[in-house]
Amino acid sequence: MSWCDPVDSDKHSWHRYSRFYERHFATIGAVASILEYGVLRGASIRWLRRMFPQAEIVGVDILPQQPEWPTGPGITYLTADQGDRPGISTMLQTLDRRFDLVIEDGSHLPAHQANCLAETFPWLRAGGLYVLEDLQTSHPQHSLYRTHCAPGTPDSLHLLLLLEHRRALGQSLRRSDVEGISRGGLFTQADVGRLAEMIAEVDVFHRATMPLRCYACGTDDFDFVAMTCRCGADLDIVGPDSMTAVLRRGPAPARSVT
Ligand SMILES: C[S@@+](CC[C@H](N)C(=O)[O-])C[C@H]1O[C@@H](n2cnc3c(N)ncnc32)[C@H](O)[C@@H]1O
Repeated sequence: MSWCDPVDSDKHSWHRYSRFYERHFATIGAVASILEYGVLRGASIRWLRRMFPQAEIVGVDILPQQPEWPTGPGITYLTADQGDRPGISTMLQTLDRRFDLVIEDGSHLPAHQANCLAETFPWLRAGGLYVLEDLQTSHPQHSLYRTHCAPGTPDSLHLLLLLEHRRALGQSLRRSDVEGISRGGLFTQADVGRLAEMIAEVDVFHRATMPLRCYACGTDDFDFVAMTCRCGADLDIVGPDSMTAVLRRGPAPARSVT
């Protein structure tokens, strides 16, 4: 066990994100202000409280506050719909604070991931981290992408892979990149340009190991040859599952468009 393992969340037992987060959280410095989209039963709010006991934590969900959600000093809940981009913008302007850490673990719909990324990233402090969790749902082979996006719609996964690629090759973003990613309507050209300037680092994790426990039956009774759980669940070693991205905000414009 490590300080970063959220034992009662699928972040750890299924997706195995926690060691990846641990490496990044160790680099972030003081954490005074956190925003998380997606509360569910409150497991990740409890996890954040344990890791960052002094931080102000805002949990945002489409649900009103539930009795089982953890409460206490420094924990606030807001009700908002990730599908309502103007509403998210108004919520952030009302909060009017710089976040050290944002975790987006809400509906996982590609359009909602794009809305939250475009609206929330500008509220990160320099050096702060934005976690776009379960990014696999923006993969064109994922069922959520296939049911909610017209084929070929560029989304957050496409944008982040593009930014990482240009960065790895030491290249500037091209005008054609901006036009390509904004075609389809999830991001405007202004969104792409602004995010490209602010995002200094993109680190993508894709699980290539067995989960610790099956999401369906909760056991670790796996068939290692069939790569399934004995209950029949596919352990998703190679498909579009269990991808998360950690994005770091740079101190200054990170790249220019040529
Ligand atoms: C994956 S769960 C969050 C899990 C939690 N972060 C954890 O690790 O324990 C997703 C949450 O997103 C919320 N949600 C679904 N659609 C939403 C929307 N359109 N806007 C805001 N929240 C939404 C759900 O109510 C649910 O609580």
